[in-house]
Amino acid sequence: MDTKLFYDQVDPATILGKACYAVVGNPIGHSLSPWIHQRFAEQAAQAMYYGRIQAPVEGFQATAEAFFQQGGRGLNVTIPFKLEACAFAKQLTAHAQLAGAVNTLWQAGGQINGDNTDGLGLVRDLDAQGIELKGMKILILGAGGAARGIIGPLLAQSPAAVMIANRSPSKAKQLATLFAELAHSVGVALTAESSEDLVTQVSSGTLGQFDLVINATAASLTVLSPISDQAAAQLFQPRTFAYDLVYGKPTPFMQQALQHGSRVSDGLGMLVEQAAAAFLIWRGATFSSTINPRQVLAELRHVLA
Ligand code: ATR
Repeated sequence: MDTKLFYDQVDPATILGKACYAVVGNPIGHSLSPWIHQRFAEQAAQAMYYGRIQAPVEGFQATAEAFFQQGGRGLNVTIPFKLEACAFAKQLTAHAQLAGAVNTLWQAGGQINGDNTDGLGLVRDLDAQGIELKGMKILILGAGGAARGIIGPLLAQSPAAVMIANRSPSKAKQLATLFAELAHSVGVALTAESSEDLVTQVSSGTLGQFDLVINATAASLTVLSPISDQAAAQLFQPRTFAYDLVYGKPTPFMQQALQHGSRVSDGLGMLVEQAAAAFLIWRGATFSSTINPRQVLAELRHVLA
């Protein structure tokens, strides 16, 4: 493996005799994935190197090809390449197909395989936080790639209902149509609304209360909440759980929820759990009882504090 592929200056001796993995994105300098995977490798006593690769914006395919041709074993893929990774993989899991995006690539059977572990990561993190999704009423704010990646795994947990609300209603409707068959097969009522109509309906009491509200919009990245304070006052109750897919300091969405006594979570646990799912795909499910994502999450929160 040519160590020049990696963003960090890597001494070739560091990777000698190790199975090589990496996360590829642009930018990539902020990625916590190497730290997380190194901890899993230690817990499972695996001889692995996990690096960061910054591919040129127009150069994902060439970069991924070079990595696998040089013996790289697996890639995680992040912004802005998840759609390209989906096209790059020759074999997709059913979930990656529906998600239309891939965050985990590996070589098997002489071809590149792709999966999307983001949604599973969210479900595992919610489960670890004591959230039982079965029978819940779930509201997803946003209808972009992040929302698309989580809908399938959420539906698979048999909630009572899932509503997708988006600023641009046509995108919410498209997503609801895409997942209609899956929702029907598991008996979940899946609906789409414009964010505007959502507020009207919540205010008038016609929708009832949601148990779980997930912020899957890109609003938190711009220090905004996707919902007004007025809507937040209607949506958030002490029994509501509010989950923001981003991580870091509490977002405006989380602050609104906290003001109304709701439990909140950022997406750091999802990040660790999606990494754990990728690790098990690459290294084998037998390590599921060896690695400890919740311990790694606690350590990571300590490091970031
Ligand atoms: P990602 O892959 O992160 O989901 P995306 O595909 O660009 O990114 O989707 C961004 C989502 O955040 C969309 O649902 C977008 O709403 P629109 O479809 O109406 O554009 C939503 N979004 C971004 N900024 C927002 C804001 N300030 N308020 C509400 N929704 C916002």
